[in-house]
Amino acid sequence: MTTDVYAVPTQQDFALPGIADVFVHAATQIHRAAAEIWPGEPVSLEGHVPSVTGYVHRARVGGRTLYAKTSILGVSLVSLLRGTCGSWPEVRQAQEKYVTQPDGLLAREAAQLRVLNAMDRPRVCAVAGIRHGVIFTEPVTGPSLGELLLVQPGDTHELLTSTFAELRPLHEPGASLHLGPGGVIGERSIAGTFLRKFNGLSGALYIDRLGAERCEPGPRGETVELMLRNVDRLRRLRMTLAAAEGPTLAYGDLKPEHVVFPDGPDGRPVLLDPGLLRASPMTDLAKLISRTVLFLAAHRPGAETASHVVGGLQAFAESQVVGLSGCERGVVLRGLLTLWLMDTVNILTTYLSAPAALPLPALGSALVDRAVPVSAFVDEVSEALANPAVEWVAWELALSSAFLVAS
Ligand SMILES: Nc1ncnc2c1ncn2[C@@H]1O[C@H](COP(=O)(O)OP(=O)(O)OP(=O)(O)O)[C@@H](O)[C@H]1O
Ligand SMILES: [Mg+2]
Repeated sequence: MTTDVYAVPTQQDFALPGIADVFVHAATQIHRAAAEIWPGEPVSLEGHVPSVTGYVHRARVGGRTLYAKTSILGVSLVSLLRGTCGSWPEVRQAQEKYVTQPDGLLAREAAQLRVLNAMDRPRVCAVAGIRHGVIFTEPVTGPSLGELLLVQPGDTHELLTSTFAELRPLHEPGASLHLGPGGVIGERSIAGTFLRKFNGLSGALYIDRLGAERCEPGPRGETVELMLRNVDRLRRLRMTLAAAEGPTLAYGDLKPEHVVFPDGPDGRPVLLDPGLLRASPMTDLAKLISRTVLFLAAHRPGAETASHVVGGLQAFAESQVVGLSGCERGVVLRGLLTLWLMDTVNILTTYLSAPAALPLPALGSALVDRAVPVSAFVDEVSEALANPAVEWVAWELALSSAFLVAS
């Protein structure tokens, strides 16, 4: 995920990029890149995969299917359509230069996939090619972690254990040496994204406009009010987080859709869409918990399934802090909870601020409809967390509230 923030246009007649401009341009770039990498092969675009981040398409190239992805200026489509990078002619001009840069977002993603493919773990999708800021990856087929959690919720702990086993080499001290400082995807930092989104005046304007094109006035007003409180509390809680950079790597965008089990639930998973950054392994745990709870909040699988999955998340998270002293455990839990809530706010507000014309992933649309209960969940837990003495109380409350919002 990349950050979306509102620009404050200085002229009333500022022409925002249109969705058709962006999609036609992106599709053309995919065709052009495929034609240059595989000259003479027929290319057709099959299915668009809705994303608020980049433009993703399944593509037929010759006889095979690939996933093609392109990013415009490394910012989210939400930011782009809101005018953060200027008018469409300005964006086009900047993008021509951007795709030639060796440190563009997708150039870094391709480099990361190559580094990871050279390691024993984690298993990741293979890069088929990259050209003009378009990356092609080989398809990974099989159920995602999210799909498996819905059909075998009693195996949550085992599924998380095998996912994190893949990440062990990244989570070891010294792992950051695998990547040069320019190779990280800092855009995936939870706290960094939160600060960029909710900074100063533009942050206040951003919250004020949440849901303007997607929600009814009643729930919209409630969501804005809750988010104002949430953001204010989380900004203060951020001060208690440990230093962001460290000797370990975090996978970055670890969410249930990015973990695929091509050999079934007992086999090793394959990960998609890395966003490696120098951060604590707790960052990965926080993101996976946040996105799993949101995945459930969108699917509403019922109390029994939600209880198994949330219980599995709890058991797995507690197994990660088991050797620590009481005091250390408190600090780690506080950090984990803060990052969990920040990530939930980051992604929910992105969906809420997407222009109506941008097709959202099904998960995003479902979460827009559940904006009030999800925002209220963050409100309740961040309030408990604001009390410095009671990490375990906040942790237990987070899990019981997560179960309610997820069932
Ligand atoms: N190589 C692949 N094999 C299988 N599925 C893929 C592959 N690449 C992408 N996908 C599917 O397309 C979705 C979007 O791709 P990707 O995550 O790379 O783009 P994105 O713009 O970062 O989207 P998001 O912000 O939703 O993560 C993935 O969640 C996955 O469902
Ligand atoms: Mg992704």
